[in-house]
Amino acid sequence: MQKREFLKGLTGLGLSTPLTFNHLDALMASIGHLSDDALATHEDFWLKIRADYRLKSDYINLENGFYGIMPKYIEDHYIDHLREINFQGSYYMRTVQMENKKTSAARLAKMAGCLPEELIITRNTTESLNLIIQGQKWKKGDEAIMASQDYGAMRNQFRLMERRFEITVREVSIPNHPKNDEEIVALYESVITPKTQLLMVCHMVNITGQIMPVQKICDMAHRYGVRVVVDGAHAFGHIQFSIEDLHCDYYGTSLHKWLTVPLGAGFLYVKKDQIAGVWPLFAEDSRDPEDISRLNHVGTYPVHTDLAIINAIDYHHKIGGSRKEARLRYLQKYWTDQVRDLPRVVVNTPVESNRYCAIGNVGIETIEPADFAKQLLNDYQIWTVAINRPGVRGLRITPNLFTTLKELDVLVKAIKELSA
Ligand SMILES: Cc1ncc(COP(=O)(O)O)c(C=O)c1O
Repeated sequence: MQKREFLKGLTGLGLSTPLTFNHLDALMASIGHLSDDALATHEDFWLKIRADYRLKSDYINLENGFYGIMPKYIEDHYIDHLREINFQGSYYMRTVQMENKKTSAARLAKMAGCLPEELIITRNTTESLNLIIQGQKWKKGDEAIMASQDYGAMRNQFRLMERRFEITVREVSIPNHPKNDEEIVALYESVITPKTQLLMVCHMVNITGQIMPVQKICDMAHRYGVRVVVDGAHAFGHIQFSIEDLHCDYYGTSLHKWLTVPLGAGFLYVKKDQIAGVWPLFAEDSRDPEDISRLNHVGTYPVHTDLAIINAIDYHHKIGGSRKEARLRYLQKYWTDQVRDLPRVVVNTPVESNRYCAIGNVGIETIEPADFAKQLLNDYQIWTVAINRPGVRGLRITPNLFTTLKELDVLVKAIKELSA
């Protein structure tokens, strides 16, 4: 084979057997006339999407918030990428690895609504946000803000900064049922002082599913010169948004949750004018201070995952982000509407449709969350996760695109029986 042809074969992202979308093309054409909301209720259509997944029959999986299993289309591509890179060995790594990573990052940037030079691929939200939290130019006496409902690993990282740099971290507690956006904005504003440098906010609170008014919080914080880092672990690939519209300084997410990229992928967005202000975690060769690749020296890692990002984005767009969001919101509303007003049942997720999507949290006053989870698994074969945090005691219920109304009927029956 000519050298040129050989190299050409390596440069594209479609490294291996083309796996096509024929089945989805026909399916999507058949529903093209329906609005997102009408399609959300079209159980036959979603049953066909369900057939795209390999699902275990032992339990009803309502714990898709941890990570979102891949549809077969993405899984097959992923395995092919792994095989092909293992076949090419270090030749792949030394020739097109970085070029391919950049292509995947550019596709993510397009989907996220930011510039390609503002985004790097990371392993997950933990890495993305910790890069920012530990990478600030902290001085003794500086202050930061987080919420009691934020994710443990990020809260721990802020506490570490307190010990390491002698900063102070102030904490707010987000109401499960806010009156309006202004109540939340005022809460964060109440703890800002002239020393505040950084505010962290979840785009979607992982334990309750509450969607936060991020843009309003960012605009308020910026009036005080405070930078905002957004924990978007649960938002990207789940709800439709553009980073540009959020007005944040940093945004981190995991791609193995709602975009169904294989495990171990995330991204970090850093606004162009903030890049130079962040210390890298691992030192890179000398670069322009405004070059985001300065923050992305990670050593050797499973690079086949970078390639599967493209397949996951293709799959996401094939179904359509707004269709996916409408279905997920419909599923949550379907079950919460049936249990919200029952005696002893506490739904810890807001009722307004702009404040939730797939995730809901439900508790029963008379049952410990861990026991509730056990009973659901043992007696109803429903897999969930117990949450027992101040102000949030219940189970996090997270359906996915393959979840059926029949499965949610089992959940509703279980909640009715256990709370009776
Ligand atoms: C709000 C939030 N932030 C961060 C993370 C950490 O995500 P990862 O483990 O993918 O880094 C999670 C994980 O569930 C989360 O829910």
